[in-house]
Amino acid sequence: QADVFTYDPGFTSTAACKSAITYIDGDKGELLYRGYPIEQLAKDSHFLEVCYLLLFGELPDKAQMEDFEGRVTRHTMVHEQMNNFFRGFRRDSHPMATMVGVVGAMSAFYHDSLDINDPWQREVAAIRMIAKLPTIAAMAYKYSIGQPFVFPKNSLDYSSNFLHMCFAVPAEDYAVDPILSKAMDRIMMLHADHEQNASTSTVRLAGSSGANPFACIAAGIACLWGPAHGGANQACLEMLREIGTVDRIPEFIARAKDKDDPFRLMGFGHRVYKNFDPRATVMKESADEVLELMGIHNNPTLQVAKELERIALEDDYFISKKLYPNVDFYSGIILDAMGFPTAMFTPIFALSRTVGWIAQWREMIADEEQKIGRPRQLYVGESYRDYKQVNDR
Ligand code: SDX
Repeated sequence: QADVFTYDPGFTSTAACKSAITYIDGDKGELLYRGYPIEQLAKDSHFLEVCYLLLFGELPDKAQMEDFEGRVTRHTMVHEQMNNFFRGFRRDSHPMATMVGVVGAMSAFYHDSLDINDPWQREVAAIRMIAKLPTIAAMAYKYSIGQPFVFPKNSLDYSSNFLHMCFAVPAEDYAVDPILSKAMDRIMMLHADHEQNASTSTVRLAGSSGANPFACIAAGIACLWGPAHGGANQACLEMLREIGTVDRIPEFIARAKDKDDPFRLMGFGHRVYKNFDPRATVMKESADEVLELMGIHNNPTLQVAKELERIALEDDYFISKKLYPNVDFYSGIILDAMGFPTAMFTPIFALSRTVGWIAQWREMIADEEQKIGRPRQLYVGESYRDYKQVNDR
């Protein structure tokens, strides 16, 4: 027992992994992508430029950005046969279920011709993933509402293309609102990467065995789905709707504080941030801006969210536990205002986080020293004992 490490219910492995991609200071509420603060990127950059930064470590110059954008744009379509995978799902399947299945199936389409020992082919796989995830997420949405799939349009930018694939129908023209496109792009930037969160650790652990990157990303999507992780944005909006009006907030605050009640305030708290989640701050500004620009004044859900945040931040319980709104607290309000059903919130988180997952996978695979992952355990079971025949038990 001499080498037993102290038990951590959060299953924090004793062996931290090495990464140069994203840095979080939970006490300062700081989030840096390759050294650049998320607040500046959210204001001045755009999602595909952030993808380039996360993948290659530097902001691209004009020529590099044009080349990268061209490579992504040319791979937004999926193999026509992949459409068949959707039809195997019930119509009312959660889009995250279809995304796990279809992204895993990409292994059968793109992996066989892929040698992950070749850096160039790893880069090709990364770009295919970034290019195709929005198409697959939009297809999952269209399938769930019984509408025909809409092909990507290379003339549109990344975020506009995703919105067009979700909301256009063949029967009429659809022009993407630039306000929504900018808001979607900002949401994607804010969700792009976040150090060694549960789903990224899942991708790294799967990738450490040499599994193909498409299967690893499918594993990440499965992990993200949980309500304690990426599923929180859906759970948070559903909670805000259940609260309904500001006069019911105290009832839910009391439940969140009640040790015997499993209810937690969705969109509050974080494993790392014990100060404000900087993404929540940007998301809150974005929610105000988008709803204002869309002419949705006094959105009741937004009013409940703001009042809930105000009350919680003044409450001794939340202060003592250092619980602040996280990235999921406001994102659902914006996505709801855009017209997305709550079931699409986590798929949008997944397509945004794909660049973070694949950048971290590439970084790990390129590290010659990396070995297959194996989290430690603290054995608390029975010690050695001999077998007993059934008549002796
Ligand atoms: C994401 O890791 C990442 O980076 C994730 C993510 C990313 O970008 O990948 O940031 C995305 O997953 C954000 C988190 C989304 N989840 C939610 O909003 C769900 C609601 N929040 C929680 O379930 C919770 O806060 C967690 C899961 C996020 C963190 O859980 P922990 O690690 O148990 O929280 P903690 O150790 O900081 O909790 C300290 C205390 C505990 O009480 P005690 O056991 O000390 O008495 O605070 C309590 C918790 O019970 N607590 C809450 C609470 N969150 C923690 N109480 C009420 N409501 C909450 N939301």
